[in-house]
Amino acid sequence: GTAASAGDCDTGSVTGTQLNSDGPRPPYFAVPLPQPPVLRPASVDGTTDYYEVTARAGSARMLPGTRTTIWGYDGLFPGPTIVSRSGRRTVVRHINELPVPTTPHLHGGHTPADSDGYPTDAIVRTGGSLPDLGRYVGMTMSPSDYQVSYEYRDYVYPLNQRAATLWYHDHRMGFTGPQVYRGLAGFHLVYDDEETRLPLPGGDKDQLLMIVDRAFDGDGQLKYPSTGPSLQHEAGVSSRYHDGVLGDTILVNGVPWPFLEVSNTRYRFRILNASNARRFELALDPPPADGPHFIQVGSDGGLLDRPVGHDLVPIAQAERFDVVIDFGQYRVGDRVTLINRAGSGPTTVVMQFRVVREEADDSWVPGVLADMSEFDALTPDRASGTRAMRFSGGDPWEINNKPFDLHRVDANPKLGATEIWKISTSAHHPVHLHLVQFKIIARTGGLRPTDGGWKDTFDLAPGEDGQVLARFTEYPGVYVFHCHNLEHEDMAMMANVAVE
Ligand code: C2O
Ligand code: CU
Repeated sequence: GTAASAGDCDTGSVTGTQLNSDGPRPPYFAVPLPQPPVLRPASVDGTTDYYEVTARAGSARMLPGTRTTIWGYDGLFPGPTIVSRSGRRTVVRHINELPVPTTPHLHGGHTPADSDGYPTDAIVRTGGSLPDLGRYVGMTMSPSDYQVSYEYRDYVYPLNQRAATLWYHDHRMGFTGPQVYRGLAGFHLVYDDEETRLPLPGGDKDQLLMIVDRAFDGDGQLKYPSTGPSLQHEAGVSSRYHDGVLGDTILVNGVPWPFLEVSNTRYRFRILNASNARRFELALDPPPADGPHFIQVGSDGGLLDRPVGHDLVPIAQAERFDVVIDFGQYRVGDRVTLINRAGSGPTTVVMQFRVVREEADDSWVPGVLADMSEFDALTPDRASGTRAMRFSGGDPWEINNKPFDLHRVDANPKLGATEIWKISTSAHHPVHLHLVQFKIIARTGGLRPTDGGWKDTFDLAPGEDGQVLARFTEYPGVYVFHCHNLEHEDMAMMANVAVE
């Protein structure tokens, strides 16, 4: 990575194997940035919003002059955005019409275990069956390992948590990589009063950016290196790609290298890296006249206590950065590229902003954003214990020298306990813990400027050691802890955490 401001450090490499598209590369900045539609509740009562989402095949306009078959929530990629109010129960009926089992997971949700989307909680379409399960790396699966719901399953999200940018995606045992790659990912936003009160940019100046890399075949269809037929993916990733699948085409909200017309005012962007294996290091080109490229206001788990300026935002798979870009630092007529310093060739470019008009700006970024007293009170002296988690291996990938085993408990924190987890890595691994958000307290060479605030995903560079503090509050049950390089996850880099 390129050190762009004081405090930036070497953020590590990209781990994965490049898959190249066969057709012509779509042009840069030819398509306007779309926003995913906001899902309307099917019904509402005094305590709860009820939604229905159907996983099905869809036809997306990704490349010029062609339609790409995807698997998406409501047939869309990104899926529809679900918007919830903190503390108001949200029930999502996930219906599956795909030929494969699905396992929806709300990433970043503080969710009771039975609604968390444990990898073997499978929704199977009517008339469907569980396909061959024996090929999962590291263990033999049998149908009795699955908790099957036919046609649909209702997921109950209490959402007793702060305002935050969450996302939902497929988590099927052994097949998360191909199924997310096909399009099973969407945003789930949580708002609360503290956040709504802030004078941050809103309305069409509050935009979602789901960034992914993909590769396409000569017919404009998504290309994924599984050993099975291209659409069914009833086989895991081909072992040549066990490092992770990297594409050569960058999509933002489902379209390649889009542009967005903006006024010379502040805009808020909730950036999600939903790639299987690619991490990005984002910056603006040209840089703003004065001041940082990005003003970070939120992390995975919601608002920071104070805004932090960055000239470079490293974002690993599944991480979210909530940032403000001040286009008041540019002139009308300027074109500003969102670039990726961790890319090469076409993957160094993400999208373009075109400053097309002047406008008064009534938004601002206050010096104090949120009450973080709970975060501040979480200190290492509160910890009742320490666990070591070593991410290594390769074929399969392992945590503490063991590939994932459904029936083995790897960590058993007590309900309510605070623990320090010491995590070390061989290759680059973005490690993710379900159920809770944690605090990053140590990293080889010191914390990155982007490590602040509540996190659920920790971007660790090869050979790096890090420590997080987590409080296992609220819900008992078995949750997973895993690498969010989806090919690593599918190839067994996952552990069971039983909160007791
Ligand atoms: Cu984003 Cu266990 O997942
Ligand atoms: Cu990994």
